[in-house]
Amino acid sequence: MPPARSVLITGGASGIGLATARAFAAQGCPLLLADISPSVHEVARSLGTPQAAAHAFEADMGEETQVLALASEAMRLFGGCDVLVNCAGVSQKRDGKAIPPTEVRTADWERVLRINLTAPFLLCRELIPAMQRRKFGRIVNVASRAGRTFSKGAGSDYAASKAGLIGLTRHLAGTYAADGITVNAVAPGRVHTPLANTSSAEVLAKAMQEIPAGRFGTPDEIAQAIVFLASDGAAYLTGACLDVNGGGFMA
Ligand SMILES: NC(=O)c1ccc[n+]([C@@H]2O[C@H](COP(=O)([O-])OP(=O)(O)OC[C@H]3O[C@@H](n4cnc5c(N)ncnc54)[C@H](O)[C@@H]3O)[C@@H](O)[C@H]2O)c1
Repeated sequence: MPPARSVLITGGASGIGLATARAFAAQGCPLLLADISPSVHEVARSLGTPQAAAHAFEADMGEETQVLALASEAMRLFGGCDVLVNCAGVSQKRDGKAIPPTEVRTADWERVLRINLTAPFLLCRELIPAMQRRKFGRIVNVASRAGRTFSKGAGSDYAASKAGLIGLTRHLAGTYAADGITVNAVAPGRVHTPLANTSSAEVLAKAMQEIPAGRFGTPDEIAQAIVFLASDGAAYLTGACLDVNGGGFMA
């Protein structure tokens, strides 16, 4: 058995992040779960075991000082982390629909970019040096189909942040491949989570029609892709963006 890896997951209190936390907990991995929601404490309590602790960290990934505090907490607890899953993300909607680009306020654009793109960058910047020292690291960025192709249900800020996250993934992958660090992204299509449910029933019904599999994904199906990318078996896989979308977009 390989050693249980320490895992930091942002957005670990709900949806895909929570399913990912459960999957790593089932492998006996010590966890640090970060979320803006106070429910992250209860999630960590429910997942921790005497052999593998689960720590909670309540923080807003839109605030640089709180992101840096999270990185410091990972250094204090685990001397960094073996696996970093950047999963926290937000999508702005108005009446369940994407806001037209011409009506997006600058402050809202910047907040979406800070949470979805800048926070993953900051965590990578702070935690990669410890991975380099260990000669091991797995970074998985949760992007979106909306960062891969046009998606009517997504806003311009969201699409730009996720496309940027895929670009950042490739850049880091190339830069740190020789250090035993892999950096990959997953690009989920629609998944049954509270975030997807911010879309109106009309938007969701249309989205379903465009999926060859005829259904939305489950958080567990995305978590399994993340766990695979973080595994020892994926050591030679880096800079990829895995489309997990029931065939809704094929590159
Ligand atoms: N659900 C989908 O259809 C879908 C599709 C493509 C991509 N994604 C991406 O998957 C990721 C997870 O989303 P989900 O669908 O599980 O949604 P979710 O709403 O269930 O989970 C998102 C989590 O992020 C947390 N969060 C939000 N803002 C935060 C902030 N400022 N600081 C810290 N934590 C914050 C939330 O509290 C929540 O626990 C996101 O990055 C999202 O963009 C989701």
